[in-house]
Amino acid sequence: IDKKYKRNFSIIAHIDHGKSTIADRLIEMTHTVTSREMKSQILDSMDLEREKGITIKAQAVTLHYTAKDNNTYELNLIDTPGHVDFIYEVSRSLAACDGALLVVDAAQGIEAQTLANVYLALENDLEILPVVNKIDLPSADPDKVLLEVEDVIGLPTDNAALVSAKTGFGIDELLEKIVNFLPAPSGDENKPLKALIFDSHYDDFRGVITYIRIMDGSIKKGDKIVVMSTNKEFEVLELGRFVPKMQETDELQAGSVGYIVTGIKEIKDTQVGDTITLVNNRASSPLAGYRPALSMVFAGIYPISTDDYEDLKVALEKLQLNDASLTYQPETSVALGFGFRCGFLGLLHMEIIIERLRREFEIDLISTAPSVKYYVTMEGSTETKVIDNPAEFEDGRKIIEEPYIKGTIMVPKDYVGNVMELCQEKRGTFLNMSYIDENRVMIEYDLPLAEIVIDFYDKLKSKTKGYASFEYEFTGYKESNLVKVDILVSGEPVDAFSFIAHSDNAYTRGRLIAEKLKDVIPRQQFEIPIQAALGTKIIARTTIKALRKNVLAKCYGGDITRKKKLLEKQKEGKKRMKAIGNVEIPQEAFLAVLKLG
Ligand code: GTP
Repeated sequence: IDKKYKRNFSIIAHIDHGKSTIADRLIEMTHTVTSREMKSQILDSMDLEREKGITIKAQAVTLHYTAKDNNTYELNLIDTPGHVDFIYEVSRSLAACDGALLVVDAAQGIEAQTLANVYLALENDLEILPVVNKIDLPSADPDKVLLEVEDVIGLPTDNAALVSAKTGFGIDELLEKIVNFLPAPSGDENKPLKALIFDSHYDDFRGVITYIRIMDGSIKKGDKIVVMSTNKEFEVLELGRFVPKMQETDELQAGSVGYIVTGIKEIKDTQVGDTITLVNNRASSPLAGYRPALSMVFAGIYPISTDDYEDLKVALEKLQLNDASLTYQPETSVALGFGFRCGFLGLLHMEIIIERLRREFEIDLISTAPSVKYYVTMEGSTETKVIDNPAEFEDGRKIIEEPYIKGTIMVPKDYVGNVMELCQEKRGTFLNMSYIDENRVMIEYDLPLAEIVIDFYDKLKSKTKGYASFEYEFTGYKESNLVKVDILVSGEPVDAFSFIAHSDNAYTRGRLIAEKLKDVIPRQQFEIPIQAALGTKIIARTTIKALRKNVLAKCYGGDITRKKKLLEKQKEGKKRMKAIGNVEIPQEAFLAVLKLG
């Protein structure tokens, strides 16, 4: 197919505005899959993705569409992840496109993620086609949404499509608009090969499958290729397209999207954003915008039973095969024994990995509260250490720098006060506020990342009845007055409970956590004091009283099923407990530190 009949595009949208449903409709209308094969939301293939209702990994599908002009077009739809943790992957998926559909819910209007995605698309010079979805809803107000797109984003809406992905209304016109208003790929097949890696996955049989967009040149089976950031060389064993299953072809040319199989064994050899070229006809420079995966959030992961340590290691190895942004290294904790310090892109990424370890690998584990990466310089030293585990903070005077983000929040104006209060509480600095329409406001704050990874999002949702949307970008490191707070259980410091706090908040947090632990650690046969300490100074103390009755005493002999239930509940509780000294501490306690942070 001639380049002028190709369209490479993405769908960008705020979560739940209907990206996947629109993709399904486009696939259906172009008969790309038979109805039998048509699973709903074919692009979100992982179970967890489906369950959490979010798109994690970018994928691609090629559609063939015969337009009203009687030409058949090749439409490459590249799906993008739908969460801020994966913003870099989103930006690289967009870099593989020439255009984007900007989907906005007709009843909701523009949200924080809509705007963040538009900026990424504009940075990548994409042509943007606005699509107002869900116009079937009684509360839909497409005209208002179109005005928002013009006023807030500054995009013309003359060509905008109004659709209902649910009923299928407007999808045929949308296909025509994709063909008429999104640009054909530029690029020159006669130049040396430049292919952008926008995703990859590990296949047990074939090794790593790398998803590429050919920018210039062409690639054939048998070609010797080189990955430009690492200079590692490979041979192309197979290449093809997604229809949506992988289908072999002989050659991929400038403007095409497809996959290559090279016998690469490790996903970290084909990192998203990197450029592939030919060994014998090398491109002079790589494509712009590459950076290695960057972990932002760190936590210790420990097996409940020490017997599971090897299994956990193998599981992490396997997960990393498919996820270059997951990092881990062995770590020991006095309290928790042998485990791993893991690095994640963000909190959601962390939750997904932990959930997969539990479900797919059936490992019972405990995770510590997430932390960020601090830069620490001891007084009198010139060396700056990078520390991602609060337990590793040394005593003594030092300069500590922590990561900051710029957060954008969109919210109905009635909640502005609540949002500002929350941001203030989270050590935020106000940057800017503007009206989106007469009802909704956009607020920008400079915030420490550490405050975001704890429970910012949950709090924001509850303080705004779920109406706020939030998006952030990393801005850099700044010096902060931070201290380490230790928690002692029965006089023993529990390293896994140590946390870093701003000195203004250390007392309050120490006290909150001591109180919370008192509630979540079950009573035992003896009294358990819980203390929070700044260095050697105790700043808070609570006591868990000794146990008097056993659980069964409560149910007066009678009901046997009730008794059983109680015993089972107790057993269940046991499974997720870790003995520290002679005190049994449940997983909940480790998370309590997180929730109260
Ligand atoms: P993420 O993948 O989580 O980013 O969400 P998404 O943007 O892909 O949204 P999805 O397609 O999963 O749709 C979200 C919800 O909106 C689902 O319950 C859909 O059934 C519903 N929905 C999508 N399109 C329409 C529409 O045109 N009309 C109505 N009434 N509901 C729709």
